[in-house]
Parts: sequence; C-alpha cells; structure tokens
Amino acid sequence: MGLKHGTMTASQRDPLGVGLLGVGVVGTVVAQALLDGRTQETVPGSHPLVLKQAAIRDLDKDRSVPSDLLTSDVSSVVNNPEVDIVVELMGGEEPATASIAAALKSGKHVVTANKEAIAKNGDELIALAEANGVRLLYEAAVGGGIPIIGPLSSDLLANRIQSLRAIINGTTNYILTRMTAQGEAFDDILADAQALGYAEADPSADVDGWDAMYKIAILARLAYGASVPLDSVHREGIRPVTAADISNAATLGYTIKLIAAARLEDGGLLVRVHPALIPNDVPMAKVDGVLNVCEIEGDLVGPLWLQGRGAGPDATASAVLGDIIRVARAPGSITPPRKLISPPALLEMSDYQCQYYLRLVVKDQPGVLAKVAGILADRNISIDSVLQMDSDPERGTADIVLTTHPAREREVQQAVEQISAVSSVEKFASLLRIEPYGDSSG
Ligand code: HSE
Repeated sequence: MGLKHGTMTASQRDPLGVGLLGVGVVGTVVAQALLDGRTQETVPGSHPLVLKQAAIRDLDKDRSVPSDLLTSDVSSVVNNPEVDIVVELMGGEEPATASIAAALKSGKHVVTANKEAIAKNGDELIALAEANGVRLLYEAAVGGGIPIIGPLSSDLLANRIQSLRAIINGTTNYILTRMTAQGEAFDDILADAQALGYAEADPSADVDGWDAMYKIAILARLAYGASVPLDSVHREGIRPVTAADISNAATLGYTIKLIAAARLEDGGLLVRVHPALIPNDVPMAKVDGVLNVCEIEGDLVGPLWLQGRGAGPDATASAVLGDIIRVARAPGSITPPRKLISPPALLEMSDYQCQYYLRLVVKDQPGVLAKVAGILADRNISIDSVLQMDSDPERGTADIVLTTHPAREREVQQAVEQISAVSSVEKFASLLRIEPYGDSSG
C-alpha cells in the first residue's frame, strides 16, 4: 500500500544506507521499521532507506536484524562506504562521541538519542556537522517521543524564549509520584522501580539529576542560542526528599517534583535541576508517573505545553525514525541551531530568588523558634508560614517547617549554615525551593 506508493516516487532518488550503532530495545524498533518499509510509507519523493549494517555488543544474542548485517565492530559501521546515515543508540559519552565525530568527519549524517554525548560535546559536534555539510539530529535525546528539539530548532525561531520548565526524567517522576500517593520511603520505591524495569540497576544518572541536567542543558542551548557548559547547571537529585517532606508539602498545598528549568532571570540565564514544591493548582503538579512535560514560554507564541512519553522503546523510536526520515527527505538541508552573537550571561544558583521550604528537627523547648526567626530576620528573609509537626516527646524534639517569602539563595544558604550551628537545632533536615508560578506562590 503506502510502500508501493513510496517506492514509485522514491525510485527517482538514490537509496541512503543506514548503519545502526546499538540494537537494544529502541534499536530493535528502529531496525524493524527500516526493514518492513514503514520509513517509506509516508514520504513520497524522499530517498529510500536501506538498513546496511548494525553493530551490537554480543553477537550471540538473538536480534531482530538479519545476522549477515550484524557486526560487533562499531568502526566497521562508521567506516562502511555504503552507510550514509549513522544512527547512534549506544548511549554514554564514549565511545559514542568519538563514533559520532568520526561519522561526521567522513561526511555521514548522524541521528542520535544520546543526551550525555550531546550535552557534553554538542558544541563541537554541531560545528563538525556544519563544517562537513551533513546533518546531526538528536530529537530522541530529550523527552523520548515528545517533539521538543524540532520546535526549538525551527518552529519557534522567531521567538525570544523566556522560560523552559520541565519534568524531564520519568524515573524520578515515577518514584516521587508513588512516594506522594503511598507515603512510602524513597529506598523502598526505588527497589520496586528497579524490579519493574523503570529504574536502572545503577540509578544514579536518574535519581541524582544527571539525566535531567543533560537534557535541560541541550534544550537551553537551543532555546537561548548559548553554550551551556554542564558546570554552569545547578544539579540536585531526589535522594534527600523524605516521606515527611512530601506529606508536609501536601499539607501546605504543594506536590514535590524534580524540576529542570532554564529561565531568564534578572537579564541572565539560570539553568537548574532540583526537587521543588509545585503549587497543587498548576497543571505540572498533576503530571504523574513516567510522563514528561516541557512548558515553553516564547514572547510571540506565549505559553506552550508539550507532554508525553519521555522514554520507552516505541516513543523513543518515534523520535529517532522521525530524524532518519528528515534526512531522507532533505539530506542537503543543513540547518545550524540558533546561535546568538550576544547570548545571555549564565547565572549562578546563588543569584536565584524564590520562596523556600525549610525543615528542622529542634529541641522542643522555649526560645528555639525565636532564635531561628532572628537569624532569618538578620538576613532580611521574611517568614511566610510556620508549622510544628511530629513532636517526639521521648526524644524531646519537634519538626519545624518554615516557608519563606521570596528570598535570595545566597542569603538563605548563609542562614541555613548559621541555623545548623544553633545548639538547640538537632538537625537541619531539608531545604527545598518553591517553584515560582505567577500569583500561585509568589
Ligand atoms: N532514564 C530516562 C528517564 C529515560 O527516566 O526519563 C531516558 O532518557
């Protein structure tokens, strides 16, 4: 049906050979789509795509790719003269970055899902693609199946982007959603998520915020036309968030989410990843489970909301295949990303200003609260609310939860240091930020 239609028109153009690096769960769907002709069905006039070779780690494992196309040698795919498009699905910084660079240098187009390689080495790889007149596409690197790189790279170019704010890591959103619904501890849910295959055996990339940091750095570079070195991105993960924080946040009318944001603040660009209290009345508080969402605010288009499956074989393959088809339609259409002559300066987290949630375990005795309030007042930090929770008469302690009016991170961190040193404060337990949303929290 569609295939016949595609073959008739496409026969006027030369076929393009595709080489896969990695045939895991995503690569399997991509390979299948190339083999069964799905990629030809809907794009009359584009180059036919032919899977030429695929590199895998273990040749003995059963694959959906015919065995005569398989190799365990990555460089033989990169150097294969019949391969015009290298599709990199290995993940990790190396050998992926070196393979992408080698492919670009030898005049091959590259499609990749690799957020780490693009976040860390994107500036160099983009320049290499431009210098060699080939395309480097990476829609699948951020937000799985959600089209986000495409809109930021082309449809929204007329806009000055004012804000990107996202839930961009499905694993942490799944864990926080379950902690919120069931009041369970982080460690128990992580173990469950690992058993269900949502979280990796080594969960650090997700739970410590690395994955979200790579993704928001990639989006920020595209949106603001600036280089975003990873050491300029503030990163915190979700390990310190406790069941008590989640329940206190609920009492105060908030839901805790891992937020990745890149926003213009005071004329500079602040890129940050950290758990935050989201007011329950904004839609982001309700984006649950493994779903991802990205809010974009442009000066012309206004607010946009892109939500969908941020991971999973089919959703990620949808983005990879879209990029492969883009090349097949117009291999010569080289569109370098936005690059401003004067990009905004990158701000440090200490410049950030928001409302704060602070939790302390204190000795339940007179004068403690006055001391804490005094330290905050000395730094001009105004208290918005105070809750005394969970008194423990046996230990003679109580949990105090404070929220502040908007305050500067630098001042708040200094106050926290001073509060921690007060003898009647047993433990400074949590500092969480309240995400600013117009009138909701501010
Ligand atoms: N590990 C990622 C997540 C998916 O949990 O969202 C791949 O980017």
